[in-house]
Amino acid sequence: MRASSRASADEAAKPLRILGIDPGTLRLGYGVIECAGNGAAKVEYVECGVISASARHARAARLAEIGRGLRDLMAELRPDAVAMEEAFHGAVRRTAARREAASASAKAPCVTQVFLGAKGGAGTTTVAVNCAVELARQSKRPTVILDLKPSLGEVALFLGVRPRFTVLDAIENLHRLDKDFLKELVSRHKTGVDIIPASEQFDRPNAQDVGAIEELLRILTRTYDYVIVDAGNTINSCGIAALYAADTVYLVTNPDVPSIRNAQRLVERVRQLGAGSERVKILLNRTSENLLITPQQIETALGYAIHHSFTSDYRAVSTALNSGVPLTLSNGCVIASEFDSFTKQFLGVMPEAREPEKRRTFLGLL
Ligand SMILES: Nc1ncnc2c1ncn2[C@@H]1O[C@H](COP(=O)(O)OP(=O)(O)O)[C@@H](O)[C@H]1O
Ligand SMILES: [Mg+2]
Repeated sequence: MRASSRASADEAAKPLRILGIDPGTLRLGYGVIECAGNGAAKVEYVECGVISASARHARAARLAEIGRGLRDLMAELRPDAVAMEEAFHGAVRRTAARREAASASAKAPCVTQVFLGAKGGAGTTTVAVNCAVELARQSKRPTVILDLKPSLGEVALFLGVRPRFTVLDAIENLHRLDKDFLKELVSRHKTGVDIIPASEQFDRPNAQDVGAIEELLRILTRTYDYVIVDAGNTINSCGIAALYAADTVYLVTNPDVPSIRNAQRLVERVRQLGAGSERVKILLNRTSENLLITPQQIETALGYAIHHSFTSDYRAVSTALNSGVPLTLSNGCVIASEFDSFTKQFLGVMPEAREPEKRRTFLGLL
Protein backbone atom coordinates (compact mmCIF):
# COMPACT_ATOMS: atom_id res chain seq x y z
CA MET A 1 0.00 0.00 0.00
CA ARG A 2 1.35 3.46 -0.90
CA ALA A 3 0.43 6.80 0.64
CA SER A 4 1.94 9.98 -0.82
CA SER A 5 1.66 13.73 -1.15
CA ARG A 6 2.94 15.66 -4.18
CA ALA A 7 3.84 19.29 -4.98
CA SER A 8 3.42 20.88 -8.42
CA ALA A 9 6.55 20.28 -10.54
CA ASP A 10 8.22 22.73 -12.88
CA GLU A 11 7.63 21.12 -16.30
CA ALA A 12 9.94 23.41 -18.23
CA ALA A 13 13.30 22.64 -16.55
CA LYS A 14 15.16 19.28 -16.61
CA PRO A 15 16.52 19.14 -13.11
CA LEU A 16 18.24 16.22 -11.39
CA ARG A 17 15.61 14.12 -9.66
CA ILE A 18 16.73 12.35 -6.47
CA LEU A 19 14.80 9.68 -4.61
CA GLY A 20 15.70 9.35 -0.91
CA ILE A 21 14.81 6.08 0.80
CA ASP A 22 14.45 5.30 4.48
CA PRO A 23 14.29 1.48 4.36
CA GLY A 24 12.33 -0.72 6.70
CA THR A 25 10.84 -4.20 6.81
CA LEU A 26 7.34 -2.97 7.65
CA ARG A 27 7.35 0.52 6.18
CA LEU A 28 9.64 2.21 3.69
CA GLY A 29 9.64 5.98 3.69
CA TYR A 30 10.62 7.92 0.60
CA GLY A 31 11.04 11.49 -0.52
CA VAL A 32 11.75 12.99 -3.92
CA ILE A 33 13.49 16.29 -4.62
CA GLU A 34 14.69 17.96 -7.77
CA CYS A 35 17.91 19.98 -7.96
CA ALA A 36 18.56 22.54 -10.67
CA GLY A 37 21.06 25.26 -11.41
CA ASN A 38 24.80 25.46 -10.83
CA GLY A 39 25.84 23.42 -7.80
CA ALA A 40 22.18 22.42 -7.32
CA ALA A 41 21.36 25.99 -6.26
CA LYS A 42 17.61 25.37 -6.55
CA VAL A 43 16.12 22.42 -4.68
CA GLU A 44 12.43 21.61 -4.99
CA TYR A 45 10.32 19.17 -3.09
CA VAL A 46 8.36 16.84 -5.38
CA GLU A 47 6.77 14.11 -3.35
CA CYS A 48 7.11 12.03 -0.23
CA GLY A 49 5.28 9.04 1.09
CA VAL A 50 5.33 5.63 2.65
CA ILE A 51 5.13 2.15 1.18
CA SER A 52 3.82 -0.17 3.84
CA ALA A 53 3.30 -3.90 4.08
CA SER A 54 0.78 -5.76 6.16
CA ALA A 55 2.10 -6.47 9.67
CA ARG A 56 0.23 -9.80 9.58
CA HIS A 57 2.53 -11.14 6.85
CA ALA A 58 5.87 -12.84 7.47
CA ARG A 59 9.07 -10.80 7.00
CA ALA A 60 9.88 -12.31 3.57
CA ALA A 61 6.38 -11.60 2.25
CA ARG A 62 6.54 -8.05 3.63
CA LEU A 63 9.86 -7.42 1.90
CA ALA A 64 8.43 -8.74 -1.39
CA GLU A 65 5.40 -6.45 -1.00
CA ILE A 66 7.59 -3.41 -0.26
CA GLY A 67 9.88 -4.40 -3.17
CA ARG A 68 6.90 -4.42 -5.58
CA GLY A 69 5.79 -1.02 -4.32
CA LEU A 70 9.31 0.35 -4.76
CA ARG A 71 9.56 -0.97 -8.33
CA ASP A 72 6.24 0.73 -9.22
CA LEU A 73 7.46 3.93 -7.59
CA MET A 74 10.75 3.89 -9.54
CA ALA A 75 8.89 3.26 -12.81
CA GLU A 76 6.60 6.17 -12.14
CA LEU A 77 9.06 8.70 -10.77
CA ARG A 78 12.12 7.73 -12.88
CA PRO A 79 14.72 9.24 -10.49
CA ASP A 80 18.21 10.14 -11.77
CA ALA A 81 19.79 9.15 -8.47
CA VAL A 82 18.81 7.24 -5.34
CA ALA A 83 20.09 7.96 -1.82
CA MET A 84 19.71 5.32 0.87
CA GLU A 85 19.76 6.01 4.62
CA GLU A 86 23.17 5.33 6.24
CA ALA A 87 21.95 2.69 8.71
CA PHE A 88 21.11 0.51 5.78
CA HIS A 89 24.48 1.18 4.19
CA GLY A 90 26.23 0.13 7.41
CA ALA A 91 24.31 -3.13 7.52
CA VAL A 92 24.94 -3.80 3.83
CA ARG A 93 28.66 -3.09 4.23
CA ARG A 94 29.00 -5.40 7.21
CA THR A 95 27.08 -8.19 5.51
CA ALA A 96 29.06 -7.77 2.27
CA ALA A 97 32.38 -7.79 4.14
CA ARG A 98 31.36 -10.98 5.95
CA ARG A 99 30.17 -12.72 2.80
CA GLU A 100 33.28 -11.67 0.93
CA ALA A 101 35.53 -12.90 3.73
CA ALA A 102 33.65 -16.18 4.07
CA SER A 103 33.59 -16.95 0.35
CA ALA A 104 37.17 -15.80 -0.37
CA SER A 105 38.90 -18.09 2.07
CA ALA A 106 36.20 -20.11 3.77
CA LYS A 107 37.30 -18.32 6.92
CA ALA A 108 35.02 -17.67 9.89
CA PRO A 109 33.09 -14.39 9.65
CA CYS A 110 34.98 -11.55 11.27
CA VAL A 111 33.62 -9.75 14.32
CA THR A 112 34.43 -6.05 14.68
CA GLN A 113 34.29 -4.51 18.15
CA VAL A 114 34.64 -0.75 18.51
CA PHE A 115 35.49 0.73 21.92
CA LEU A 116 34.37 4.32 22.39
CA GLY A 117 35.05 6.30 25.56
CA ALA A 118 32.44 8.50 27.21
CA LYS A 119 35.28 10.90 28.04
CA GLY A 120 39.06 11.08 28.05
CA GLY A 121 40.49 8.89 30.80
CA ALA A 122 37.37 6.67 31.05
CA GLY A 123 39.66 3.69 30.44
CA THR A 124 38.84 3.02 26.78
CA THR A 125 42.37 2.00 25.85
CA THR A 126 42.78 -0.06 29.02
CA VAL A 127 39.58 -1.98 28.30
CA ALA A 128 40.14 -2.33 24.52
CA VAL A 129 43.71 -3.60 24.94
CA ASN A 130 42.87 -6.13 27.63
CA CYS A 131 39.82 -7.37 25.73
CA ALA A 132 41.95 -7.84 22.59
CA VAL A 133 44.61 -9.77 24.51
CA GLU A 134 42.05 -12.05 26.16
CA LEU A 135 40.22 -12.61 22.89
CA ALA A 136 43.44 -13.67 21.12
CA ARG A 137 44.51 -15.84 24.05
CA GLN A 138 41.20 -17.60 24.61
CA SER A 139 40.05 -17.96 21.01
CA LYS A 140 43.51 -18.55 19.48
CA ARG A 141 42.08 -16.87 16.38
CA PRO A 142 43.71 -14.08 14.36
CA THR A 143 43.04 -10.83 16.23
CA VAL A 144 44.10 -7.28 15.46
CA ILE A 145 43.74 -4.07 17.45
CA LEU A 146 43.58 -0.84 15.48
CA ASP A 147 44.34 2.40 17.31
CA LEU A 148 42.13 4.97 15.59
CA LYS A 149 42.69 7.72 18.08
CA PRO A 150 43.87 10.70 16.07
CA SER A 151 47.36 11.66 17.18
CA LEU A 152 49.41 9.76 19.67
CA GLY A 153 47.19 6.85 20.66
CA GLU A 154 48.53 4.58 23.35
CA VAL A 155 47.61 1.03 22.37
CA ALA A 156 51.19 0.04 21.46
CA LEU A 157 52.50 1.64 24.64
CA PHE A 158 49.98 -0.23 26.80
CA LEU A 159 51.20 -3.47 25.21
CA GLY A 160 54.88 -2.59 25.66
CA VAL A 161 55.51 -2.75 21.92
CA ARG A 162 57.69 -0.35 19.95
CA PRO A 163 56.06 -0.24 16.54
CA ARG A 164 57.83 0.36 13.23
CA PHE A 165 54.70 1.37 11.33
CA THR A 166 51.43 3.11 12.10
CA VAL A 167 47.91 3.35 10.75
CA LEU A 168 49.14 6.06 8.36
CA ASP A 169 51.54 3.59 6.70
CA ALA A 170 48.60 1.22 6.32
CA ILE A 171 46.24 3.73 4.69
CA GLU A 172 48.97 5.16 2.47
CA ASN A 173 49.79 1.70 1.12
CA LEU A 174 46.30 0.29 0.67
CA HIS A 175 47.03 -0.75 -2.91
CA ARG A 176 49.61 -3.26 -1.70
CA LEU A 177 47.95 -4.19 1.58
CA ASP A 178 47.54 -7.93 1.11
CA LYS A 179 48.01 -10.61 3.76
CA ASP A 180 51.82 -10.66 3.38
CA PHE A 181 52.22 -6.90 3.49
CA LEU A 182 49.92 -6.70 6.52
CA LYS A 183 52.16 -9.20 8.30
CA GLU A 184 55.10 -6.84 7.78
CA LEU A 185 53.16 -3.78 8.78
CA VAL A 186 51.58 -4.87 12.06
CA SER A 187 53.47 -5.28 15.31
CA ARG A 188 52.80 -8.62 16.96
CA HIS A 189 52.36 -8.88 20.71
CA LYS A 190 53.52 -12.09 22.35
CA THR A 191 49.93 -13.10 23.06
CA GLY A 192 49.32 -13.17 19.31
CA VAL A 193 47.45 -9.87 19.03
CA ASP A 194 48.51 -7.84 16.01
CA ILE A 195 48.69 -4.09 16.54
CA ILE A 196 48.15 -1.26 14.09
CA PRO A 197 49.26 1.70 16.20
CA ALA A 198 47.96 5.25 16.05
CA SER A 199 49.52 7.85 13.85
CA GLU A 200 52.20 10.08 15.29
CA GLN A 201 50.79 13.10 13.46
CA PHE A 202 48.44 15.28 15.50
CA ASP A 203 45.92 15.84 12.70
CA ARG A 204 45.79 12.39 11.10
CA PRO A 205 43.83 10.33 10.31
CA ASN A 206 41.29 13.05 9.50
CA ALA A 207 38.19 13.61 7.35
CA GLN A 208 40.25 13.17 4.18
CA ASP A 209 41.30 9.69 5.31
CA VAL A 210 37.79 8.31 5.86
CA GLY A 211 37.63 6.37 2.58
CA ALA A 212 41.03 4.81 3.28
CA ILE A 213 40.03 3.90 6.84
CA GLU A 214 36.86 2.22 5.52
CA GLU A 215 38.97 0.24 3.05
CA LEU A 216 41.49 -0.67 5.77
CA LEU A 217 38.65 -1.97 7.95
CA ARG A 218 37.39 -4.06 5.02
CA ILE A 219 40.86 -5.52 4.47
CA LEU A 220 41.21 -6.32 8.18
CA THR A 221 37.86 -8.12 8.25
CA ARG A 222 39.02 -10.30 5.36
CA THR A 223 42.24 -11.21 7.17
CA TYR A 224 41.31 -11.45 10.85
CA ASP A 225 38.58 -13.14 12.87
CA TYR A 226 38.46 -10.31 15.41
CA VAL A 227 39.05 -6.64 14.71
CA ILE A 228 39.19 -4.47 17.84
CA VAL A 229 39.16 -0.70 17.38
CA ASP A 230 40.15 1.86 20.01
CA ALA A 231 38.12 4.82 18.72
CA GLY A 232 39.12 7.25 21.49
CA ASN A 233 36.46 9.43 23.04
CA THR A 234 35.16 11.66 20.26
CA ILE A 235 33.02 10.74 17.30
CA ASN A 236 35.10 12.13 14.44
CA SER A 237 34.76 11.18 10.78
CA CYS A 238 37.12 8.17 10.96
CA GLY A 239 35.40 7.06 14.17
CA ILE A 240 32.09 7.16 12.32
CA ALA A 241 33.52 4.84 9.65
CA ALA A 242 34.43 2.42 12.46
CA LEU A 243 30.96 2.73 14.02
CA TYR A 244 29.33 1.73 10.74
CA ALA A 245 31.68 -1.25 10.44
CA ALA A 246 31.11 -2.37 14.05
CA ASP A 247 29.21 -5.45 15.08
CA THR A 248 29.28 -4.12 18.63
CA VAL A 249 30.05 -0.64 19.90
CA TYR A 250 31.27 -0.84 23.49
CA LEU A 251 30.72 2.49 25.18
CA VAL A 252 33.17 2.73 28.07
CA THR A 253 31.94 4.94 30.88
CA ASN A 254 32.71 5.63 34.53
CA PRO A 255 30.21 5.90 37.38
CA ASP A 256 30.34 9.70 37.56
CA VAL A 257 27.97 12.40 36.34
CA PRO A 258 30.17 13.88 33.54
CA SER A 259 30.83 10.41 32.05
CA ILE A 260 27.19 9.40 32.18
CA ARG A 261 26.09 12.67 30.66
CA ASN A 262 28.59 12.29 27.84
CA ALA A 263 27.57 8.66 27.40
CA GLN A 264 23.95 9.77 26.93
CA ARG A 265 25.06 12.21 24.26
CA LEU A 266 27.22 9.66 22.48
CA VAL A 267 24.41 7.08 22.44
CA GLU A 268 22.15 9.76 20.98
CA ARG A 269 24.78 10.65 18.38
CA VAL A 270 25.18 6.99 17.37
CA ARG A 271 21.40 6.86 16.98
CA GLN A 272 21.32 10.05 14.89
CA LEU A 273 24.05 8.69 12.66
CA GLY A 274 21.93 5.63 12.03
CA ALA A 275 24.90 3.52 13.14
CA GLY A 276 22.66 1.07 15.00
CA SER A 277 22.13 2.09 18.62
CA GLU A 278 20.94 -1.49 19.26
CA ARG A 279 24.56 -2.56 18.78
CA VAL A 280 25.73 -0.32 21.65
CA LYS A 281 26.72 -2.09 24.87
CA ILE A 282 27.66 -0.24 28.03
CA LEU A 283 30.86 -1.12 29.86
CA LEU A 284 31.15 0.45 33.30
CA ASN A 285 34.80 0.92 34.20
CA ARG A 286 36.18 1.79 37.66
CA THR A 287 33.32 0.50 39.76
CA SER A 288 33.70 0.08 43.50
CA GLU A 289 31.50 -0.98 46.38
CA ASN A 290 30.73 2.55 47.55
CA LEU A 291 29.44 4.11 44.38
CA LEU A 292 27.60 7.41 44.82
CA ILE A 293 25.65 6.65 41.66
CA THR A 294 24.34 3.10 41.61
CA PRO A 295 24.44 0.84 38.52
CA GLN A 296 20.62 0.97 38.48
CA GLN A 297 20.67 4.77 38.29
CA ILE A 298 23.19 4.61 35.47
CA GLU A 299 21.03 2.12 33.56
CA THR A 300 18.00 4.33 34.05
CA ALA A 301 19.89 7.41 32.89
CA LEU A 302 21.26 5.72 29.77
CA GLY A 303 18.24 3.61 28.87
CA TYR A 304 20.63 0.66 28.49
CA ALA A 305 21.59 -2.21 30.74
CA ILE A 306 25.20 -2.31 31.92
CA HIS A 307 26.69 -5.13 29.87
CA HIS A 308 29.80 -5.65 32.01
CA SER A 309 31.62 -3.86 34.86
CA PHE A 310 35.32 -3.56 35.63
CA THR A 311 36.55 -2.81 39.14
CA SER A 312 38.54 0.26 40.02
CA ASP A 313 42.05 -0.94 40.82
CA TYR A 314 44.53 1.85 40.38
CA ARG A 315 47.49 -0.18 41.54
CA ALA A 316 46.94 -3.13 39.21
CA VAL A 317 46.02 -0.98 36.19
CA SER A 318 48.88 1.48 36.55
CA THR A 319 51.41 -1.31 37.18
CA ALA A 320 50.23 -2.99 33.98
CA LEU A 321 50.41 0.32 32.12
CA ASN A 322 53.88 1.26 33.35
CA SER A 323 55.32 -2.18 32.65
CA GLY A 324 53.60 -2.64 29.28
CA VAL A 325 52.28 -6.01 30.47
CA PRO A 326 48.52 -6.36 30.02
CA LEU A 327 46.49 -6.96 33.17
CA THR A 328 45.42 -10.37 32.02
CA LEU A 329 49.06 -11.51 31.90
CA SER A 330 49.94 -10.13 35.32
CA ASN A 331 48.93 -11.39 38.75
CA GLY A 332 45.49 -12.80 39.38
CA CYS A 333 43.78 -9.57 40.45
CA VAL A 334 40.00 -9.09 40.38
CA ILE A 335 40.03 -6.88 37.29
CA ALA A 336 42.03 -9.50 35.35
CA SER A 337 39.38 -12.10 36.16
CA GLU A 338 36.70 -9.63 34.99
CA PHE A 339 38.36 -9.41 31.57
CA ASP A 340 38.59 -13.19 31.56
CA SER A 341 34.85 -13.59 32.23
CA PHE A 342 33.92 -10.80 29.80
CA THR A 343 35.73 -12.67 27.01
CA LYS A 344 34.39 -16.07 28.04
CA GLN A 345 30.87 -14.67 27.86
CA PHE A 346 31.56 -13.19 24.45
CA LEU A 347 32.95 -16.47 23.14
CA GLY A 348 30.02 -18.33 24.62
CA VAL A 349 32.20 -20.37 26.99
CA MET A 350 30.22 -18.97 29.91
CA PRO A 351 26.49 -18.27 29.78
CA GLU A 352 25.78 -14.59 29.36
CA ALA A 353 24.21 -12.89 32.38
CA ARG A 354 20.66 -11.96 31.51
CA GLU A 355 20.48 -8.26 30.81
CA PRO A 356 17.67 -6.34 32.47
CA GLU A 357 15.00 -4.78 30.26
CA LYS A 358 15.96 -1.52 28.52
CA ARG A 359 14.71 1.37 30.56
CA ARG A 360 13.55 4.57 29.02
CA THR A 361 13.25 7.10 31.85
CA PHE A 362 16.05 9.50 32.60
CA LEU A 363 17.45 10.79 35.88
CA GLY A 364 16.45 14.40 36.48
CA LEU A 365 20.08 15.15 37.35
CA LEU A 366 21.36 14.07 33.93
N1 LIG B 1 39.60 0.03 36.15
C1 LIG B 1 40.52 0.95 36.41
N2 LIG B 1 40.95 1.16 37.67
C2 LIG B 1 41.87 2.11 37.96
N3 LIG B 1 42.46 2.90 37.05
C3 LIG B 1 42.09 2.75 35.77
C4 LIG B 1 41.11 1.79 35.37
N4 LIG B 1 40.95 1.86 34.03
C5 LIG B 1 41.79 2.83 33.61
N5 LIG B 1 42.47 3.36 34.64
C6 LIG B 1 43.49 4.43 34.57
O1 LIG B 1 42.90 5.57 33.97
C7 LIG B 1 43.84 6.25 33.16
C8 LIG B 1 43.22 6.42 31.79
O2 LIG B 1 43.06 5.15 31.18
P1 LIG B 1 43.03 5.00 29.60
O3 LIG B 1 42.76 3.59 29.31
O4 LIG B 1 44.23 5.63 28.99
O5 LIG B 1 41.73 5.90 29.26
P2 LIG B 1 41.25 6.50 27.87
O6 LIG B 1 41.80 5.63 26.79
O7 LIG B 1 39.75 6.43 27.97
O8 LIG B 1 41.75 7.89 27.81
C9 LIG B 1 45.10 5.40 33.13
O9 LIG B 1 46.03 5.97 34.00
C10 LIG B 1 44.67 4.07 33.64
O10 LIG B 1 45.68 3.44 34.38
MG1 LIG C 1 43.03 6.09 25.14
